[in-house]
Amino acid sequence: MSRKRVAVLISGRGSNMAALIEAAKDQNYPAEIALVLSNRPDAAGLGVARAAGIATEVVDHGAFGKDRAAFDRALQAALTKHRIDLVCLAGFMRLLTPGFVGQWRERMLNIHPALLPAFKGVDTHKRALAAGAKVHGATVHFVVAEMDSGPIIAQGVVAVHDDDTEDTLSARVLEVEHHIYPLALKLVAQGRVRVADGRCLIDGVPVPDSASLVPGA
Ligand code: GRF
Repeated sequence: MSRKRVAVLISGRGSNMAALIEAAKDQNYPAEIALVLSNRPDAAGLGVARAAGIATEVVDHGAFGKDRAAFDRALQAALTKHRIDLVCLAGFMRLLTPGFVGQWRERMLNIHPALLPAFKGVDTHKRALAAGAKVHGATVHFVVAEMDSGPIIAQGVVAVHDDDTEDTLSARVLEVEHHIYPLALKLVAQGRVRVADGRCLIDGVPVPDSASLVPGA
């Protein structure tokens, strides 16, 4: 089976992007990272992608003012140019229009640093600590028009320690992110994920517990 051509969309450092690039170095991995696209010309991840020999594009949102539809058309043009099959949002800090999202239905993934549907939005680690959450983690899901929603493909769990700070907690969650994103992309690229009634089925059954990591459990 030919490998799916994946675009990773970033806005910043791109550590999840790097984890996907690393996984896709294995020729048996069912996806190749064909494009890294950033909405910010200064995103650190662009340098990492170029060093890995991956094509990059910048679609600077600043040039489009408030015209989100025009920005999304430029995104779509770049994805078409590179013959992209699947899109991975990885720290991509732009809201996408419902029209664009609809074009990539069940072909666009996002990673969110919390156990969705808890803690949508930003500052997830700070909010998890403030809420006294005992477990926290990360979620890979299909993108739908509503932010940080959509069928869950994989989750990874970490225990919250009494002495955790935002920094220590986010570092442990990030490790989990780097594990579950390549796993989730692999499942999708292999065509093993199907959505039924808003929930993902993997190989026809609900997402198995093995997709979650509880350290020490
Ligand atoms: C990650 O925590 C991701 O879950 C969130 O934004 C952060 C991006 O980090 N959506 P990186 O750019 O992948 O290092």
